[in-house]
Amino acid sequence: MPVMVDEVVAMLAPAAGSLQIDATVGGGGHTERILGATDPDGRLLGLDADGAAIARVRERLEPRFGPRLRLRQANFSQLATVAPEEGFGAVDGCFFDLGLSSFQLADADRGFGFRTGGPLDMRFDASRGVPAAELLATLDAAELTALFRAYGEEPFAGRIARAIVEARRVAPVATAEELAELVARVAPSRAPGRRRVHPATRVFQALRIAVNEELESLSTGLAAALDLLRPGGRLVVLSYHSLEDRIVKRFFQAERRGCVCPPEAPVCVCGRAPRLRLVTARGLVPAADEIVANPRARSARLRTAERIAA
Ligand SMILES: C[S@@+](CC[C@H](N)C(=O)[O-])C[C@H]1O[C@@H](n2cnc3c(N)ncnc32)[C@H](O)[C@@H]1O
Repeated sequence: MPVMVDEVVAMLAPAAGSLQIDATVGGGGHTERILGATDPDGRLLGLDADGAAIARVRERLEPRFGPRLRLRQANFSQLATVAPEEGFGAVDGCFFDLGLSSFQLADADRGFGFRTGGPLDMRFDASRGVPAAELLATLDAAELTALFRAYGEEPFAGRIARAIVEARRVAPVATAEELAELVARVAPSRAPGRRRVHPATRVFQALRIAVNEELESLSTGLAAALDLLRPGGRLVVLSYHSLEDRIVKRFFQAERRGCVCPPEAPVCVCGRAPRLRLVTARGLVPAADEIVANPRARSARLRTAERIAA
């Protein structure tokens, strides 16, 4: 079920004949609605790092949209080169729906979900990078602690890291289920208000971010998307936790200000002009009934900015 799909379409305001990019096609829910809103002749470039997502969306949506839909397996950190190669060198809208899809979460062989007995992999693109199990097997306790703190804001990072190092003396922590059980054993249960959240949520988030270099890709992807936008074009980003939302918020604010001179400089010497106008000051959150219908939406925040002529 695509998150905040009505709001996403309203914010992108895709017109007939426009060119759109969906940087994270996933199951294709947003792609379908965005492209439908550009009928009869708009076009959309859809990317996903996960080849299985691209194949699935191709099968489902190509019969309906034909050549109006271009799909390519790629990391959105490559947008600056991939988009022009596909004929999308200047676009009217670019959308990011960050994190992982429900298909990935449900796939027992990928290790994203707590209850899967399959290998702890967590790579969006399984042909690149290092699986999560390898990080757990090779990083020392201090490195694991730093990782869980930085990317999971996990209060019991040190305790969990030491337990992993202890456990792997006997056998490596190789499956998602083993890791989830280990964390649940050593980290005290959360405050009563957060009871529905699994105790390993933050550790899983941290590993996934590290494995996929998610925060670096996001910064690079946002910068590339802004360069591709025509004046009046919209950049719309749906994020699910504070680390990624902070990057989006700061990027938008910096490009709205333009000037990056230190505050003590008497006159601007950087010469950078503002390139974005914020469409929503604080972003949008899902309506209460969407959160009830789709718990995955509960932490979503949708930010939108518009390219101004610079
Ligand atoms: C939340 S899902 C997208 C769901 C989609 N909007 C839908 O309606 O089904 C996020 C998708 O982004 C992909 N992804 C995450 N980071 C990526 C990156 N840096 N480059 C390309 N794809 C990425 C994941 O593989 C996943 O399929």
